[in-house]
Formats: sequence, C-alpha cells, structure tokens
Amino acid sequence: MPFLHLDGLAKRFGTTAVLADFSLTVERGEILALLGPSGSGKTTALRLVAGFETPDAGRIVVAGDDVTALAPARRRFGMVFQHYALFPHLDVGDNVAFGLAELPAAERGARVAETLALVGLAGLERRRVDQISGGQQQRVALARALAPEPRVLLLDEPMSNLDPTLRERTRRELQATLRRIGITTLLVTHEQEEAFALGDRVAVLQAGHLQQVAAPRELYTRPATRFVATFVGRASVLGGEATDAGGAPLTVTLPRGDGTTVAWPAARPPGELAPSSHAAVDLRAVDLVLRPESLELAPAASALTLPATVLEARFLGTGTLLVVQLAGAAGAGTLEVLAAPDVAAAVGDQVYVQPRLQGLLPFAFPRS
Ligand SMILES: Nc1ncnc2c1ncn2[C@@H]1O[C@H](COP(=O)(O)OP(=O)(O)OP(=O)(O)O)[C@@H](O)[C@H]1O
Ligand SMILES: [Mg+2]
Repeated sequence: MPFLHLDGLAKRFGTTAVLADFSLTVERGEILALLGPSGSGKTTALRLVAGFETPDAGRIVVAGDDVTALAPARRRFGMVFQHYALFPHLDVGDNVAFGLAELPAAERGARVAETLALVGLAGLERRRVDQISGGQQQRVALARALAPEPRVLLLDEPMSNLDPTLRERTRRELQATLRRIGITTLLVTHEQEEAFALGDRVAVLQAGHLQQVAAPRELYTRPATRFVATFVGRASVLGGEATDAGGAPLTVTLPRGDGTTVAWPAARPPGELAPSSHAAVDLRAVDLVLRPESLELAPAASALTLPATVLEARFLGTGTLLVVQLAGAAGAGTLEVLAAPDVAAAVGDQVYVQPRLQGLLPFAFPRS
C-alpha cells in the first residue's frame, strides 16, 4: 500500500478547472517531484494535500487514514512555501519552534537545536531572519517544516528564490537531508533539471492533468505524450506521415524543401499510434519529436539527410549544440542537433542532418 495516496482530486476556481482527476501515489520515504509549467496547478495540488484548500472531489489518504476533511495542523504534514513565509519579527529559533507549541519548553529548545543542526544551521537560534542569507532562510523554512516531525513533507519550488550558483549546492544538501531522515516528500518544481536531480519519480502536470508519472530515465526515453516529450528535455518537432509497416521502428516520411521526401525511423511502434478503429490505415499525420542527441550531421547528402543552414553553434564541451534551419518551404522548422565537439560548423554553413541509427530514436505522436 502506498504511504500517500491522492485519489481523484479535482479543484475549480470559479469556472476554471485547475485540477482534474488528479491521482498519485507516493511510497514511504520516496521523493516525488511534481513538474509542470507555470500555472499548471502545482501549488494548488500541494495546497489541497496540505489542507489549505478543499477539493471539489477526491480523497487524500496517508498511511491508511483518510485526512481529506482534517484541518491542516491535524494532518501532520510539513510544508515549505514557494516564498518561505518566515515570520520576519521572530528570530530563527522562534520560527523553527512555531509548530512545537505543545512541547514542554525544555524539549522545545532541544528539538529546535536538533533540527537546526540537521539543516546545517546549528547555533543560529537567536539570529534575526532578515540577517541571514537567502540559502539560510530556505533552510530555516525547511527546519520549521521538519521540527514537528511530519509524516509527509511538501515543498513548493524550494530553490526558486536562490541564485543559480547556490541552487546546485542547496539541492545536494536538501537531498542529503531528506534521505537521512527518510521522509516521504512531494516536491513541486517547474524546472526539469531540479525534478530529475531530486525526484525518485517525476509526475508531469499540464493544465491540471497528470500526463505521466515515471522515473527520470523512463520519462526522457519513453515519454507517454507529445507534451512530456517536448517539456522534459530538449526537443524539436517536425510534421510527417507515418507509414504503418506493421513493425517497429515506425517509418516517418518527412518533406524536403525541394519537393522530395526522406524516410526516418521513429521509436514509437505503429500499434501505439493507430486509433483502434482505424488499425488498417496506412498513412497518418504525426509529429516527430527529436532530441538533439538523436540527430547528427552527415558528411554529404544522402537518402537519409535533410539539408539545412546553421543558425547557431554553441560549444558545450561534451558536444556542440547546433540550431539549424531546414532548407526549402518558408517557415519550415528549426532543429537542434548535438554534434561531436570537434565538428567545425559555423553560423551560415550548409549542412546535412540525419537521424542517428543507434541510441535514442525519435518519437512519433499523432498530430495534435
Ligand atoms: N485562489 C485562486 N482563485 C482563482 N484562481 C486561482 C487561485 N489559485 C490559483 N488559481 C489559478 O489556478 C491556476 C493554477 O495555479 P497554481 O498556483 O496552482 O499554478 P502553479 O503550477 O503553481 O504555477 P507557478 O509555477 O507559477 O507557481 C492558475 O491559472 C491560477 O491563476
Ligand atoms: Mg506555484
């Protein structure tokens, strides 16, 4: 049985459905990252779980207890808010002691000291919260959430107020702390890198609908929807026609600028594409989603290549990321290609792009 079970949650504000049929399970001790663009409903989901909002439908069950109707404090969940919401008039120690009113004073002091040590802020009790750094404020907010020993920790964009150099270090420290305590965590973020670095699994939310819940590698290599394929990781999209050859990989025919076509392999087998009632249809419109590392430059034109012009070349160390403009039809797409680091392609060069036939093949999705 999962430790935390969100079962069919729904929430509207006025006429807008912000979350629909939102179901998710989190195992004991698991870190689950809820990833989605701004406005997709992440904070709303977390506020429902915490009890600051009431769902229109669905249940929240923790360790077998239905807590849907319980007040926030009685759920024994800890929450770190998107903007920390520390009490500016209280010092660090009193902020952390906030949820400990029922403990005897001596125990309370010991728990505050213990929790501050846990987040690397030992001895900072009497410091004013406006006299510590942003990274330290984040850790005070974390300590305040952890001090009452919650059953579940809810984190809303825990790194968003930190500058990029602090982010990576703070992320490592946060992960180490969560692992050490072994606390079940639901973490909200709009950054894929953060979700991948921290989440045992990642749940992708788009406009209030969960798209896929999977481990990072699975999300990246087997995205369930076109949205997941393009939101998670870098990707370019080309429109083409899928030929149902009855086997994998599926072949997708793409137009070249000069009126000819090129046939590229794609990873998605035809069975997944075919609408069940049209299983025998031969050709269908698809969007081919290509990761930069699924493409390469060919030395010369061939039956597999698309001609293009280099718009941008960015040396990354591990490779050179090229943005190329496909030749031909006006407004035709651009592609991102991860070329070998020693490829000397400069802006304005004519190049030939082909799919790599080993490794991650492109994905084909029914045209939306
Ligand atoms: N109290 C409210 N009343 C009306 N609409 C709301 C309310 N709270 C949120 N919304 C709307 O619900 C949608 C989802 O908001 P939410 O804050 O959950 O998004 P989010 O995914 O956390 O975004 P961000 O990444 O920007 O924090 C938005 O369109 C927002 O405007
Ligand atoms: Mg939010």
